Amino acid sequence: MSRRLWSWSIFIFGLTGVIAWKIAAILLVPQSRATEISVSASVAETIEPISPIPESVPLDPGKVSLGGRLFNDPRLSGDNSLACATCHVLGKGGVDGLRRSIGIHAQAGEINAPTVFNSGLNFKQFWNGRAVSLEDQIDGPLQHAKEMDSQWPATIAKLKLDEHYKSEFAKLYRDGIQPASVKDAIATFERSLITPNSRFDRYLKGDRGALTREEIDGYRRFKSYGCIACHQGVNVGATCSSGSASCAITSRTGGISRPPISGVSA
Ligand code: HEC
Ligand code: HEC
Repeated sequence: MSRRLWSWSIFIFGLTGVIAWKIAAILLVPQSRATEISVSASVAETIEPISPIPESVPLDPGKVSLGGRLFNDPRLSGDNSLACATCHVLGKGGVDGLRRSIGIHAQAGEINAPTVFNSGLNFKQFWNGRAVSLEDQIDGPLQHAKEMDSQWPATIAKLKLDEHYKSEFAKLYRDGIQPASVKDAIATFERSLITPNSRFDRYLKGDRGALTREEIDGYRRFKSYGCIACHQGVNVGATCSSGSASCAITSRTGGISRPPISGVSA
């Protein structure tokens, strides 16, 4: 082979290499970008700050039904005029629709009633989070002079006159009709009041078509504006404990708060 031919061969070989490298770069770069985007999207999905309402909660059906009866029973109030259901109307989203709830002797309270739906998922109860559980919460309305205005001994005495309650409590609770068992039954009923599979829940579970584009944009802003600093976890409430600094939020009513956003009013 002549020297000339040899240098031509090297030149053509090199040129082919450069062209092949360019074609490869054009074909591969967009692909690697696409991979980056899909990876970051799936990372975003796994760190969603709000979790969907569970589809079911394991509960004793006997206690749920007994609690439902108590929730609707006006004998829990001092003058047998108001039940829990008077202010938490289950057919109206678990609220009374009033700016201030109306208690015993037509007295207006200080604040509006939040929903009882999904209240079992709340991290604290009441607007300012002053009750740590559904069981503890019940002492509030039952004894409040502007709500049901009763005392436990009077309410228990009335319930003990009811044969149906006597047999139901005897079946479910070792101590029969007691404040603790009444609270347990009502709280168990409240825990059954969940609203799974709303459009937002379906979206959180991966059904991207469950929300409109405008709603998805609103959710994006809800996250980017920092609403999720307080409204996160299940029920768009909070997950932090009241002892932690990030939880020391002063609410409208003062004190340490639990921020709920009900899933049923929308
Ligand atoms: C007179 C109307 C009225 C009656 C009767 C009443 N509630 Fe309420 N309920 C309210 C109001 C008002 C609040 C909010 C009070 C607050 O945050 O200070 C509330 C709060 C609650 C909450 C807290 C929910 C949350 O998201 O923080 C639960 C749970 C609840 N009530 C259950 C009950 C039960 C159970 C009964 C019966 C034993 C009952 N209520 C009786 C008006 C009422
Ligand atoms: C610093 C904590 C904090 C941040 C941040 C925050 N919230 Fe709240 N939010 C609360 C608390 C606490 C309550 C309940 C007590 C109250 O109303 O005072 C509440 C109540 C609400 C309610 C009423 C819920 C109901 O069930 O009626 C809505 C709606 C709401 N917030 C929306 C938002 C939006 C939208 C943002 C962002 C722009 C936001 N919040 C940011 C703490 C916060």
